[in-house]
Amino acid sequence: MDSILVQGGGPLNGQIPIAGAKNACLTLMPATLLSEEPLTLTNAPRLSDIKTMTELLRSLGSEVATMQDGKTLAMSCHGEINTRAEYDIVRKMRASNLVLGPLLAREGVAEVSLPGGCAIGARPMDIHTDGLTLMGADIELRDGYLHAKAQGGRLKGAVIDFPFASVGATENIMMAATLAKGTTVINNAAREPEIVDLADCLRKMGAQIDGDGTSTITIQGVDRLGGATHPVVTDRIELGTYMLAPAFCGGEVECLGGRMDLLTAFCEKLDEAGIEVTETDKGLKVKRRTDEIKAINITTEPFPGFPTDLQAQMMAVLCTANGTSVLEEKIFENRFMHAPELVRMGANIDVAGGTATVTGVNKLKGAPVMATDLRASISLILAGLAAEGETKVSRVYHLDRGYEKVVRKLQAVGAQIERISE
Ligand code: UD1
Repeated sequence: MDSILVQGGGPLNGQIPIAGAKNACLTLMPATLLSEEPLTLTNAPRLSDIKTMTELLRSLGSEVATMQDGKTLAMSCHGEINTRAEYDIVRKMRASNLVLGPLLAREGVAEVSLPGGCAIGARPMDIHTDGLTLMGADIELRDGYLHAKAQGGRLKGAVIDFPFASVGATENIMMAATLAKGTTVINNAAREPEIVDLADCLRKMGAQIDGDGTSTITIQGVDRLGGATHPVVTDRIELGTYMLAPAFCGGEVECLGGRMDLLTAFCEKLDEAGIEVTETDKGLKVKRRTDEIKAINITTEPFPGFPTDLQAQMMAVLCTANGTSVLEEKIFENRFMHAPELVRMGANIDVAGGTATVTGVNKLKGAPVMATDLRASISLILAGLAAEGETKVSRVYHLDRGYEKVVRKLQAVGAQIERISE
């Protein structure tokens, strides 16, 4: 199994290109199931999660080809398709559940395995299934699979009030509603940029959608959708992660393709901590205003709030801030698994339920640590880059799910980092 070895201490200087968003690509890909015509995505990230979605879509009967540049996915889903998403693929990645809405909309039936447990929490699917039920689907859980059937063979429009602004449920219902009979309104919809990106792509395919990016999305169903070519939006989580690298280690890094509007709340927190972010014609430049980072308080929230997917990385940076920071995790119930690993590097962190209190120390010290999930892995790498001595991060297969070419990107700004196989 591979590990990452990091020698910490030095500042980072240079440019890091930001890839297309994993989370946008994972919801754009299943949109191919909604049409018989080709859907081409450009600026797709090269990640193992994208390979998993490719495998799933192929198992359902879609053609998926990755073009020579590695960043263009040409998909086509004409002819007959299989409506069963098997446990063997779905268990690898929760986002596999995003085929449920499109399959049901296209075929009137779908069998999708429940994704099962996940390191960062239980993550049920009740918001997805309650919404589809209101749209006229009969859904029952049998043998670990959701068996869904649209009454009369076609979903119908409905007014759906989400109890929580779930990202995945908004995407599933939005896709399902594009081909439903009549109008669907989603109240308390998620507002993430990835949802706006999906709506943009669906509109290119002929869907009638209004209000994406706000809490109320209205979708007028149509009889068929066509093909489209669509560039995947910039990955705001990869962007935020690399913005934290010079904040933590010193130096100045320009994140190419970065946009402030993708990370408004995060940028405000960086400012409060004493980190300067400047817009350039190529992206965002980041450096510390002074040597010291100030302690800040963070609460994770749905967009436009502070993203849960940047909480672990921010916690690592706050380990050496001046003062005490309080981080509240409001999206997932078990998302502080990086804390004990950071403590092994000399951090002072106290976790009680969904709250972590971080008291800044002068320096972190290198240590062997274990990655527990995707964002935890990168937070330990950032910590290793800022620490004294050597850090070895094991179980890095999590990283391949969400960070393309992480070693090369960090080496290019002067980091001493390598991947080793044992
Ligand atoms: C997406 C992102 C993930 C991010 C998360 C929150 C993708 C592929 N993944 O995940 O990286 O961390 O948004 O920003 O885009 N919930 C329910 N019932 C449901 C659905 C969700 O209780 O039916 C709960 C979940 O358990 C969790 C919370 O709602 O506690 C957030 O989930 P949701 O917004 O749906 O996240 P995902 O779409 O799974």
